[in-house]
Amino acid sequence: MRVLVTGAAGAIGQVVTTGLLERGHDVVALDLVAAEGFDGHWYPVDCADPDAVATVFEEQHLDAVVHLAGVPDERSLTDELTSHVVTTAALLDAMVTHRVTRIVYASSNHAVGRTPHTDLLTADAAPRADTFYGVAKVAAESLLRLYADRHGIDAVACRIGSFLDRPETTRHLATWLSPADCVRMVEAALTATAPGYAVLYGISANTRAWWDLAPGRELGYHPEDDAERWADSIPAREQDEDEAAYVGGPFALEAFHRAALASSAERG
Ligand SMILES: NC(=O)c1ccc[n+]([C@@H]2O[C@H](COP(=O)([O-])OP(=O)(O)OC[C@H]3O[C@@H](n4cnc5c(N)ncnc54)[C@H](O)[C@@H]3O)[C@@H](O)[C@H]2O)c1
Repeated sequence: MRVLVTGAAGAIGQVVTTGLLERGHDVVALDLVAAEGFDGHWYPVDCADPDAVATVFEEQHLDAVVHLAGVPDERSLTDELTSHVVTTAALLDAMVTHRVTRIVYASSNHAVGRTPHTDLLTADAAPRADTFYGVAKVAAESLLRLYADRHGIDAVACRIGSFLDRPETTRHLATWLSPADCVRMVEAALTATAPGYAVLYGISANTRAWWDLAPGRELGYHPEDDAERWADSIPAREQDEDEAAYVGGPFALEAFHRAALASSAERG
């Protein structure tokens, strides 16, 4: 499969690019920054620029897209919408034009982050963002669903938990996604038969998981790692109880309450 990986220079992008190549796929890479040590097609462009994205699709014969480009933290609402919604729109429009029918999207637990953490969260949980970042992920998911309905695109939104080499906090014992499982997740989402629009939770097979792995398993994602292996080495912190109150952990707390739009002073 010939796959466009956006955000290929990022933490997840590097792991996914290497993993897909190791599994025999062809990767065309895109990122704002220039390639470092990548032996293949690399486009140093802004994924929010529809003309730049269209050029990639005109020059490359693609089978699928893995969309990882985006700022993974909290900025102003407009920055978040550009980073997650406009980039997704540029890709989806190019996919329709060039008849590319599969996209795997790096959504986030923050799309449902303000949901109180009680029972196991299922994939049909109503959108409930905890931040502007989460709002943008909700909107990007909605756009994927619109293009699935209108154009028959297969779109898998992976609500990723905490992608790290190893868990570092008590919350991560529930939310961790290991690098190896991340590659398993992306490949399953790329190759699942006719998923239509689907949501899965991007976490490892954590003993303390807060989120349901069944939707992922239905798509062929079978995680093998478990954060529990590190449980004894993770020190308790004062914030642990607050971080366990909502699905989105620290993002759902007051420290993230801020104005939606950057003031003119902030814009310079
Ligand atoms: N890391 C996590 O735990 C986590 C959790 C949930 C969701 N996600 C999502 O996964 C994706 C990747 O996250 P990450 O942790 O690898 O982030 P990262 O910051 O390490 O990588 C993101 C990459 O995207 C590139 N990028 C950003 N905006 C771009 C644009 N407009 N055009 C082209 N390239 C652009 C950056 O240069 C960077 O290389 C993001 O969408 C993030 O929201 C990550």
